[in-house]
Amino acid sequence: MTGATADAAPTSSTARGRKRILIGVGGGIAAYKVCSLIRHFTEAGHDVRVIPTRAALEFVGAATFEALSGNPVSTEVFERVDEVEHVRLGQHADLVIIAPATADLMARAVAGRADDLLTASLLVTTCPVLYVPAMHTEMWRHAATQANVATLRERGNVVMTPASGRLTGTDSGPGRLPEPQEIALIGELLLDRAEALPYDLAGLRVLISAGGTREALDPVRFLGNHSSGKQGFALARAAAQRGASVTVVAGSTKGAGEPPAVRIVPISTARELADEMTTRAADADVVIMAAAVADFRPVTMNESKIKKGEAGPAPIELTTNPDILRGLVQARDAGDIAGDTVIVGFAAETGDETGGVLDHGRAKLKRKGCDLLVVNAVGDGKAFGTEDNTGWLLAATGEETALPPGSKTLMASRILDAVRSLVPDGSGA
Ligand code: CTP
Repeated sequence: MTGATADAAPTSSTARGRKRILIGVGGGIAAYKVCSLIRHFTEAGHDVRVIPTRAALEFVGAATFEALSGNPVSTEVFERVDEVEHVRLGQHADLVIIAPATADLMARAVAGRADDLLTASLLVTTCPVLYVPAMHTEMWRHAATQANVATLRERGNVVMTPASGRLTGTDSGPGRLPEPQEIALIGELLLDRAEALPYDLAGLRVLISAGGTREALDPVRFLGNHSSGKQGFALARAAAQRGASVTVVAGSTKGAGEPPAVRIVPISTARELADEMTTRAADADVVIMAAAVADFRPVTMNESKIKKGEAGPAPIELTTNPDILRGLVQARDAGDIAGDTVIVGFAAETGDETGGVLDHGRAKLKRKGCDLLVVNAVGDGKAFGTEDNTGWLLAATGEETALPPGSKTLMASRILDAVRSLVPDGSGA
């Protein structure tokens, strides 16, 4: 009875195995934050090599990088010449992460320079390269930097959007290094995806609902559900990374990390969610209902705390909440939102005597009338709030695609691949 959620089906993303990760560190104060990124990947069992620039070593010493990675650290092409390091490290990497990617480092990469070990390695590598810029807002916004970022993306590299907030001095704005766990999530996505992550949603407005709704019984109690909001946030993260302008209408999200560069609109109840989604859908190209919406709410909310009393508990009378997803499809049919808006729903299903998970999913797709329905199998030990997910993607056209087990970020990227193919030509990038 509680609405569907995207948070289901624990599986293993540790299957990705031991990978060779090359972390290039640029000369910026954010270099110290990269230490936790190195630790993240070594603790996950990967072989991490760190190549700092000369400037990076002004901020963090080589000994720190060597201790954290468990590998020797070189900066110049003339070090360890017998091992041909300037070719070997880049050639053999499964993933390269440049963090912090300074304005200078990106300019040198765009120009194809090879005047230190890091830029030389970038010229020989063929694996995915993730640039994580960090610099002052003015430097980030400068036409030269923006042109370099655009060129790096055109060449198939992934350039993260910097976070906004306090910078080195007293100033604040876009230019902060995203938190190491955010960088790690995108890095892991690149390791898991067999192909590059395209920058193909630029110019598109994506509206996502995430988390669970709460229906108040009195000022201290509510009816809620176990949704963690992780799948909704993973969709927001992946969509923003692909260039979309993303708004998340978020209910309770149990500490799931909010992705950077995404607008978050907090709500509590299903009716608040319905209001926000219906209003904002008019300005969206893509609407994704990943929230776990309570189908029912108490008829009345007690103004004061309900007392135990002598007579024992009073029954709670419930009434039905609006079906937001169905309402969005009807609004599109009625012309209240654009006819080419892509609408995506989620369904957390268990099999029962009337049919299996997929049968219920197919019936729900018809009932809701959305373009895509992501079906998760839940129950049977498959918990909410897990890091991984699996399922099927059912399209209104009848096409059915299995979503192999993997991280919620990987699943999000696969859902967005399907969404992109449905967005009319000419919209967005
Ligand atoms: N949903 C919604 N409004 C609701 C309930 C659900 O918009 N009141 C959305 C969910 O966000 C999800 C989809 O509808 O995208 C399917 O939710 P689910 O709970 O599986 O479907 P229900 O319509 O509630 O059907 P049932 O619980 O009977 O399976």
